[in-house]
Amino acid sequence: MARLLVCALSAAFALAAFPAGAAEKVKIGFISTLSGPNGVTGKEMLDGFKLGITDAHGKFGGRDVDLVTGDDQGKPDVGVEVARKLLDKDKVELVTGVVLSNILLAVSNVVLPKHVILISLNAGASDLAGRECSPYFFNVSFQNDSVPEAMGANLQEKGLKHVYLLAPNYAAGRDMLNGFKRTYKGSIVGEVYTQMNQLDFAAELSAIQAAKPEAVFIFYPGSMGINFIRQYAEWGLKAQIPLYATTFTMDQTLLPAMGNDAIGIMNSGFWSESLDNPENRVFVERFEAEFKRIPSAFAATAYDGARLIDAAMRATGGRIDSADAFRKALEAAKFASVRGHFRFNTNHFPIQDYYLFQVEKGPSGELVDTMRERIFSNRPDSYVSECKMK
Ligand code: PHB
Repeated sequence: MARLLVCALSAAFALAAFPAGAAEKVKIGFISTLSGPNGVTGKEMLDGFKLGITDAHGKFGGRDVDLVTGDDQGKPDVGVEVARKLLDKDKVELVTGVVLSNILLAVSNVVLPKHVILISLNAGASDLAGRECSPYFFNVSFQNDSVPEAMGANLQEKGLKHVYLLAPNYAAGRDMLNGFKRTYKGSIVGEVYTQMNQLDFAAELSAIQAAKPEAVFIFYPGSMGINFIRQYAEWGLKAQIPLYATTFTMDQTLLPAMGNDAIGIMNSGFWSESLDNPENRVFVERFEAEFKRIPSAFAATAYDGARLIDAAMRATGGRIDSADAFRKALEAAKFASVRGHFRFNTNHFPIQDYYLFQVEKGPSGELVDTMRERIFSNRPDSYVSECKMK
């Protein structure tokens, strides 16, 4: 009898100390492009997220983290299958990751109707910032249009009159060029959407040569970026027509493969290894010590994402079983971003600063993307007014 009482009391104590659902490991689903032309980006995000977990001592909100990863292979239908498996079989409590916007849009249709929180660590599709914003969706990186809006504003200020634009033909490519056109008011002499994952740009380079624009602006992530930059230089165009990009092409996952062809290229972004704030200095040092390479923006936003989830879970005592309560904790979460200024807008997308960077050789001969100037301070995205958050 006495033993029964002790058992009952200890069970009651355990329940009081750990509210239901908070005592066990927290299962986090991580969907990413881990193979194919954007595979390097997904792996980089995973490394950044894992470092965030390590630096939180393996726990979010006091619960051990069980990270369940899935490779979407850069295909929306595979992303949907991965999301279904994570939710139905693995029973993850939250889904994060996602490199590509077309996959984000497909995956969000599976995750959000179940009232499970989805946090994008990269893709920032415009639909999810505006008309289709959701209380259960957060983006901890950027809204796609915002980064090229900064470049457009900078080229407008420089007084350029004729610019030629190129991007892959998918959701993010269209957002990126729309963003550029929103702030750049000169004439657009070419607006070309190439096939997703196209690696040979001979036809496009020949068209650029014929059009003789004053400058070219591109959005090419992953292997597309490496090939475009190399071929632009091989064709002798780099010396004739200045090329402008975003950090999504001039980042540390791609720069080593570009070599000297990347030097001098100006690009806009919200983060680079050169950003000088205390959190970033620690992050870059930690990442280099762990992985023996310089981190990229993909690792930086993933690291921030891990710290965001930890901060929100600490506020709820480790619970994320109520998506409505956890969403409020995410909205209010305080974490020191490696970007410096960072806060969520009402559509759950960042308000942050955007910069002009330029690729140059660092002290040991490595390529670095050096900050030249701040273009926007505390900039909201351009879709927030279309978001009627329920
Ligand atoms: C996207 O699809 O949203 C995307 C992909 C790669 C990037 C940036 C954005 O580097």
